[in-house]
Amino acid sequence: MQNKITKLFNIQYPIIQGGMIWVSGWKLASAVSNAGGLGLIGAGSMYPEVLREHIQKCKKATDKPFGVNVPMLYPDIEKIMDIIVEEGVKIVFTSAGNPKTWTNFLKEKGITVVHVVSSVKFALKAEAAGVDAVVCEGFEAGGHNGREETTTFTLIPMVKEQVKIPVISAGGIGTGRGMLAAMVLGADGVQIGSRFAATKESSAHDNFKQTILGVKDGDTHLTLKELAPVRLVKNKFYNEVQELYQQNPSIEEIKELLGRARAKKGMFEGDLEEGELEIGQVAGLIHEIKPAKEVLESIIAEFNEVKTSMNSL
Ligand SMILES: Cc1cc2nc3c(=O)[nH]c(=O)nc-3n(C[C@H](O)[C@H](O)[C@H](O)COP(=O)(O)O)c2cc1C
Repeated sequence: MQNKITKLFNIQYPIIQGGMIWVSGWKLASAVSNAGGLGLIGAGSMYPEVLREHIQKCKKATDKPFGVNVPMLYPDIEKIMDIIVEEGVKIVFTSAGNPKTWTNFLKEKGITVVHVVSSVKFALKAEAAGVDAVVCEGFEAGGHNGREETTTFTLIPMVKEQVKIPVISAGGIGTGRGMLAAMVLGADGVQIGSRFAATKESSAHDNFKQTILGVKDGDTHLTLKELAPVRLVKNKFYNEVQELYQQNPSIEEIKELLGRARAKKGMFEGDLEEGELEIGQVAGLIHEIKPAKEVLESIIAEFNEVKTSMNSL
């Protein structure tokens, strides 16, 4: 399969494994890259030297292209960017911040830069900042999300209509059918997070992986919009957030309830009650923990099968 995205990253399939805090370390990223997609190490939950270790291990585990996802709210961002350059990383996906801040710096070092956006306005800003492609992420997605609440189904064609650079679609895609639908709507490739969070190589705690298998439609909700909107599984912590909302809380009170390290507690340490569990709506379609390679291969097989059967419509 050859298109703008496979050529941009020199990969076999236009499938990107989204960078995910506490979930996508070198094991998952290298497994996806070895299977023909593009694996991304999620730097957002790593101290700079931990990221260096993951990059070095990833280089040993695969000779295929891989990248690093950097949420730009990161406090040690300068160190993170220096390590990325020092270690010779060739692809960076930035998110949660202004694409102008780091794009030139990275491009001057010969790095391919992609920025994650949740709206047409931000897609245009990213294009103007000089990125090579945008990920447009819809409301369905796991993890942090835009305040606009625009769905993937509507966001793809609206972004496609406005920008000239390649468009990667994210949010709610976990199957070959989903990938095909995104590409019919105009996406040049897809970024998949939740489906890869529930794989053998994901560093999510097993308690969290098992929880993902039980999630049905309606079991997640986009909340904490005053801080940074995030889609969470409705567990005890989520219920406490909702109860607090009934009391018309101040931002400080919400921050106090959130506290520190909730995401690590839930997704990495497996505390299903007190921790934050980030997953997308597509979790309702995830029924098995499989190796990343099998997930990717089944997505491609279904994509090809359904694409052929569409001819009879
Ligand atoms: C557990 C989890 C953690 C995530 N962490 C990040 C992150 O650190 N940076 C980022 O840009 N996106 C993050 N995301 C979003 C993914 O990279 C991806 O865009 C999204 O999951 C796609 O939607 P899907 O979950 O429906 O596949 C995260 C998603 C999940 C499920």
